[in-house]
Order: sequence, then C-alpha cells, then structure tokens
Amino acid sequence: MIIVTNREPYSHEKTKKGIVCKKSIGGVVSAIDPLMQERGGLWIAWGSGGEDYTVSNSNDEVLVPDDDPKYLLKRIKLTKDEIENYYRGYSNRVLWPLFHLFVEKMHIKEDYWKYYLKVNEKFAKVVANYSKEDDMIWIHDYHLMLLPDFIRKEIPKARIAFFWHIPWPPWEIFDTLPQHEELLNGILKSDLIGLHAKSYVKNFAECAMRNQNAKVDTKKCIVKCDNHKTKVKQFPLGISYKDFSHSKESLEASKNAKNLKELYEATHLILGIDRLDYTKGILNRLKAFEAFLEDNPNYKKKAVFTQIVTPSRSEIKEYNIMKKEIDETVGKINGRFGTEEWTPIKYFYRKIPQQSLLEHYKAADVGLLTPLRDGMNLVAKEYIAANEENGVLILSEFAGASEDLEEAITVNPYDIKATANAIKKAFDMPLEEKQKRFNSMKKKVKKRDAKWWIKNFLKEWEKIYA
Ligand code: F6P
Repeated sequence: MIIVTNREPYSHEKTKKGIVCKKSIGGVVSAIDPLMQERGGLWIAWGSGGEDYTVSNSNDEVLVPDDDPKYLLKRIKLTKDEIENYYRGYSNRVLWPLFHLFVEKMHIKEDYWKYYLKVNEKFAKVVANYSKEDDMIWIHDYHLMLLPDFIRKEIPKARIAFFWHIPWPPWEIFDTLPQHEELLNGILKSDLIGLHAKSYVKNFAECAMRNQNAKVDTKKCIVKCDNHKTKVKQFPLGISYKDFSHSKESLEASKNAKNLKELYEATHLILGIDRLDYTKGILNRLKAFEAFLEDNPNYKKKAVFTQIVTPSRSEIKEYNIMKKEIDETVGKINGRFGTEEWTPIKYFYRKIPQQSLLEHYKAADVGLLTPLRDGMNLVAKEYIAANEENGVLILSEFAGASEDLEEAITVNPYDIKATANAIKKAFDMPLEEKQKRFNSMKKKVKKRDAKWWIKNFLKEWEKIYA
C-alpha cells in the first residue's frame, strides 16, 4: 500500500523540549494513519515540518510514529516557490474555494497553474521510483488531481485509487475553472474515485458527462475516458469511534466535563470546533448566537458558547482577514452582553489537547456545527461519539455529514435567524426526543466508523482487479 498526500501524517518540529514528532490535523490523516499503523507500507508526502530533514535519512525517509514506528514516510522537499504557487496558490486559493462553491474567492494566476503541474509531476516521479506494478497506490485530495495521469504515463498498469475529501460542486461551478478539463482528465486515470456524499457523486458524474473525452454509464457509475475505466462511488468517511466514546482518555474526560460547565458559569453550553477557514461559517455562527441572546434575554448569564478554532493556513491572506473578523466579532458580542461574572463566548484560537477536546464534547448540551460548505465534517461525528446521550446536534445542511445524520437539527447557516431559532429549539427539546435522535445518530456513527469506511473502499478497489 502506498499512500500519497500533500500533507504529511507526522512532522518534526523544534520545541523547547527539543525536536518533537507531531501528528498532523485533518480528516485525511485521522482516517489513513490507523490503516497504515496496522498494515505498514509507504506514505509519500510533502515534508513541511521545520526539522523534517534533520531527522530523515539521506533519502528523506523516516519511520513513523517515532515512539512506535509502524510505516515508512518518504518526504518530498518543496522549494519556496513551489509552496507559494502550488500549495498556497493553486491548491488553496483556486481549487479550495472553487470546490467549496466560493467562486468569487478564486484567484486565477498563471504561475499557480504552472507550479501545480510541476509539483504533481515531481510527486509522480517519486511514486514511480518507489512502486512496483501490483502495488496499490492510494492518492488523496485536491492537491494531486493530475497525479493519476502522470503515474500512469510511467507505470501504465498501476493500480490507482483516489479519495476526494472535499465537496464536488455542480458542473456550472466546476466549469468556471479554466483548467477543468485537464484536471478531470488527470483524475480520471484512477481506477476508483471515492467521494463522501451521494450529491458529490452525482455532480462528478455530471461533470464527466460534459467532458468531451468521457462517456458515463450512469447505472454502474463508471466513467470511460481515453480508453480507461473509472468507477466512481460514495464512501462516507467515519471516525475512530472508540477513541471518542470509551478510550481511557474518554473515560477520564467524563469525570471532568461537569467541572468545565461550572468553570464557564454555564447552565447551557454550546460548542463549535473548526479549523480556521472561511468555509466553516464561524462568523455566521457567532452572529446567530448574538441573535439568540437578543431574542431570548432569559438565557443571559446562563448560556455560553465555546468556539474553538484550530489555526490553519495562516500565511494565506483570506485566512488572516477572517481571523481578525472573528476576533473582532467575539469582542463585540462579549462587550455587548457580558457581565462581570458571565462571558457569553469563550473563544480559543489554538489546537487543544485530545483530553480537553473530549471534555468539551462531553460537557456541551449542543454541538453547533454550521459550515457554509464542508466535504464531511467529522467534528459532528466526534461530538456524537463522545457526548453521553442528551446532546443535541445542530448541523449545516451544507455539510456532507448531514446526509448521514438526518436526526440532527439541520440549518441553512446563511440564515442567521433560523440558526438562532435552532439553538432555542435545541434547548427546549424534550428529553425523550433528544435521546431518540441522539441514540439513532450514535448507532450510525458507531457502525460506519473509519474501519468500515476503509474496508468498503478496499473491497470495491480489489473487485476491480478480480
Ligand atoms: O480534505 C481537506 C484537507 O486537506 C484535510 O486534510 C484537512 O482537513 C485540511 O484540508 C488540512 O489542510 P492543510 O493541509 O492545508 O493544512
């Protein structure tokens, strides 16, 4: 098994305690790392950590995790220009906004595309050097859309699968990208393409149908392009359920969750957790909480909204601007409603340790996860797994997870008033209804966990060569 991603699973960084090996955040790593720890193999990715090349061998390889090595990580060095144009530029200022339906945030620049091509070729050379014909090459995410084509040029019979971790937009959006055809032709050299939601598969098939070179068998969901067949299928990603529900840390967290509510002076606790990103709808959510306090003054000095934001992509302009807006909005709302004893919004801008994360999940009466657009939103599933039965989930209808978690209160996050009303509805919900909805979601999150996702994906992939 060869995994290829842009973000490496572990980076090495300098700290006061010396060089430490840090696990990367995000859905790709949390889903794939357990598989690699179990099966072993090779993971190829950009080595982005400050001390990555101090600890790697002369081939830029290192065994990870460093405390209990299970698989080999081959790091690819990127130059400053490559990072700026391929990663920050084309991946995060063109593809990321486009695939999340923020067309107006796309920054089209010739150099971005030039470097995207170059870095995809660079990855392909490394993959070709490390692989044999019958290896399973599993590529992830939007940074590497051209890779299947480049690998196939070097190894025509390569076994390639691709998992797409973000939404796939309708054709009318995809069409606005100048290089949409090249990208589609590139990814269609995979044998299998997985996406999180049914609607993304439908959109993908529609985009493929519009492609001049491709023919789509809509019943079987097979795309034929340049004499190559690609199966396209939905595989909704799950979480490692037991880590959140009954691990040692989880049991410990259950004891402390009560204290957290007392510490925050909250009788009603709402929780939002996101990576810093304009797609996550953090500003709208803060405004919705403000509207809730305006409409329901009886919840003053009772309700507290905890918003945890994990720093991410801070060198990119759009993210910096948004961070300032969040800071200001939190300050404005707390200044307007807060009293000496009560701070309505507890806001943390940092990556919090797992133990504290679990305490927050367990203590929260309401999980408020309202992205403007999100491939899946695993935080919603983590909340359901960790919370202990009376929690209410308010979930954006624009998160892939809303296809799985129908029992949540779904909201349109652009509708501030509706989101505010959903908070009230969650607080007012009768206990019996809360438990019914919650237990039904818990069952699904437990059953369709990360292992189930991997098993189904691999089964489908292996079927192709049987
Ligand atoms: O799928 C989206 C993704 O690539 C995930 O891996 C992760 O949630 C996030 O984006 C990480 O972003 P970055 O690698 O740019 O820090």
